[in-house]
Amino acid sequence: MLKRLCLTVVASLLFVFQFNISSASAVELDENIRTVKLNDQGEEMVLSLQQVKQGQRLFVDKCTYCHKAGTTKTNPNVGLGLKALANAEPAKDNIAGIVDYLKNPVTYDGEIEIYELHPNTTRSDLYPMMRNLTDEELESVAGYILIQPEIRGTMWGGGKVYN
Ligand code: HEC
Repeated sequence: MLKRLCLTVVASLLFVFQFNISSASAVELDENIRTVKLNDQGEEMVLSLQQVKQGQRLFVDKCTYCHKAGTTKTNPNVGLGLKALANAEPAKDNIAGIVDYLKNPVTYDGEIEIYELHPNTTRSDLYPMMRNLTDEELESVAGYILIQPEIRGTMWGGGKVYN
C-alpha cells in the first residue's frame, strides 16, 4: 500500500516536472520574438502565445502540404522567408500583407491575380479548406510565418534568399 502511494507521488511529481518543462519552452517565445510588423507603415504588434499556437495549428493543417519549413513546393523561387516576403510586391513581411494575400493572392510582382492557383478565402468554393477562416485566424497564421525565421533561422524558407 505504502509502495503504491510512493509510486503515485513519484508519478505525479514527474508529471508536474514535465508540465513545467513544456510550459517553460512556451515562455521562451518572449515578447521580442512575438513582435512582428503589422503593416507596411512600420506599425508593429505583439502576437499572443494563443495566436502563435492557433497559427501553428492552421499552418500545419492548411499550408505545410506546399510550404514545408517555409519553402514552396511548386515554386521554389517564392518562399516564405523574410527576405522573399519583404521583396514581394506588395511587401508581405507583415501581417496585413500576408492576410491580404490569403484573400487576394497575386503573383510575386503583384501584377496578376491568382485566385485559381493559390488557396484563398475569396474563392473558397475552389478551396474548401479556406472556408470560414476568420480575419483573426488569418492574422494568426501570418504571425506564425513571420516569427519562424527568429525561431528556426536558416532552416526556414530553405535558407536561401531570392531577390
Ligand atoms: C497547393 C499548394 C499551396 C498551398 C496549400 C498553400 N500555398 Fe502558399 N504558395 C503556393 C505557391 C505555388 C506560391 C507561389 C505563387 C506564385 O507563383 O507567385 C505560394 C506563395 C505564398 C505566399 C507568397 C510568398 C512570397 O514570398 O511572396 C504566401 C505568403 C503564402 N503562399 C502563404 C500560404 C499560407 C499561409 C497557406 C496556408 C493557408 C498557403 N500559402 C497554402 C502554394 C501553396
